[in-house]
Amino acid sequence: MELAPRTCPELLLLLLLGLSTGAVIDRPAEEGKEIWGYVTVRKDAHMFWWLYYATNPCKNFSELPLVMWLQGGPGGSSTGFGNFKEIGPLDSDLKPRRTTWLQAASLLFVDNPVGTGFSYVNNSDAYAKDLATVASDMMVLLKAFFDCHKEFQMIPFYVFSESYGGKMAAGIGLELHKAVQQGTIQCNFAGVALGDSWISPIDSVVSWGPYLYSVSLLDDQGLAEVSEIAEQVLDAVNKGLYKEATMLWGKAEMVVEKNTDGVNFYNILTKSTPESAAELSFEFTQSHLVRLFQRHVRHLQEDDLSQLMNGPIRKKLKIIPEDCFWGGQSTSVFQNMEGDFMKPVVSIVDELLEAGVNVTVYNGQLDLIVDTMGQEAWLRKLKWTELPKFNQLRWKPLYTDPKSSETSAFVKSYKNLAFYWILRAGHMVPSDQGDMALKMMRLVTRQE
Ligand SMILES: *[C@@H]1O[C@H](CO)[C@@H](O)[C@H](O)[C@H]1NC(C)=O
Ligand SMILES: *[C@@H]1O[C@H](CO)[C@@H](O)[C@H](O)[C@H]1NC(C)=O
Ligand SMILES: *[C@@H]1O[C@H](CO)[C@@H](O)[C@H](O)[C@H]1NC(C)=O
Repeated sequence: MELAPRTCPELLLLLLLGLSTGAVIDRPAEEGKEIWGYVTVRKDAHMFWWLYYATNPCKNFSELPLVMWLQGGPGGSSTGFGNFKEIGPLDSDLKPRRTTWLQAASLLFVDNPVGTGFSYVNNSDAYAKDLATVASDMMVLLKAFFDCHKEFQMIPFYVFSESYGGKMAAGIGLELHKAVQQGTIQCNFAGVALGDSWISPIDSVVSWGPYLYSVSLLDDQGLAEVSEIAEQVLDAVNKGLYKEATMLWGKAEMVVEKNTDGVNFYNILTKSTPESAAELSFEFTQSHLVRLFQRHVRHLQEDDLSQLMNGPIRKKLKIIPEDCFWGGQSTSVFQNMEGDFMKPVVSIVDELLEAGVNVTVYNGQLDLIVDTMGQEAWLRKLKWTELPKFNQLRWKPLYTDPKSSETSAFVKSYKNLAFYWILRAGHMVPSDQGDMALKMMRLVTRQE
């Protein structure tokens, strides 16, 4: 067989296997180059990715890092929500985003686990049911990506994440570290950043009561009720009854909602919208998993985003199968992970730290679902030998505008662990505090 000189052999293999290989659209330089495609990560499991080359007026993309963004849920779409609602070049009205991360990094959005966003499965057995599968699927994708895009092999590669994406980023980071050491994936892996991440769900749940009470969102009776249900979740987690813990977690959220007049889990200074309250009463007849899905994934695929992705975007991308709809399989993605939700991955973070991988934890001050108190609680459980030294450090304030005295964040970092307390942000840090999120990304990737 003859290979054309500039054809990537892995690309050819994909072609031979009859798999989608993506499209390359070259645009005028100032708009930047984007590429996207599918990788079949397992039988019947097809994962969609979308890459934007950094667009910086002074620097070539090769001088800037590559950042992969992982959305939460599980079932939330990076190519949709993270891209158009948080850090990508355009917002969901297709207007340029002032605080896009593209000015300081190339961005790789991946719809994972399979079934999320434009990713799809051809068989309901192919959904991931645990973190190990999520991570091994991503290894297949990253190997295909770096083998075919050698220009990124030497560039520092960071995995940034949000919510459940943080749990996936930890698992993926550890597998990637091993793969790089073993030489199976060629890339310059530089670290993970875990944003409002679901590393130790129970530490979030047990801190909801004290957190809400301290900011006047629970009275004494409310605190007692929230604490009581949190104890039940804790008990189930301690017994290893993870599916039951998932069910009780959903119940705990309802107790919080009832006692707080419907506080928004993603930003305590706002309220759940009346529509979602109506949805909730309707959902009462549905299974607790569907209810949890409505609460935690539905908001990541609001109608405007869904119309954009299933309208102009799929038209532009051209390679989305006709009967594959953005978000169409996300309920199943979420439901299949039922036994995984409440499992902690603190030990994986420990392994990352021991292995010398740079780990950044960042959290929005106004987030309830993954509140900062809970993050600090699991951090204290780390067995990492440098933790006492990290704890002894004092934090430093950060300002987004050097001329302003308004504090935007606090940061503490020691050796390969850093923690950012992001002020006035809820769960979606880049949506709430775009300037600070961009600054943090630059700090984490050693550009400031
Ligand atoms: C940018 O970097 C790439 C990869 O190193 C190189 O091929 C390309 O020529 C560079 N472009 C410019 C404008 O310097
Ligand atoms: C797999 O699913 C996609 C998307 O729904 C569909 O277009 C394709 O025909 C399916 N392939 C097979 C072999 O069933
Ligand atoms: C990892 O963190 C250490 C300590 O903060 C820092 O010196 C180093 O540059 C970081 N490496 C990368 C690749 O970001």
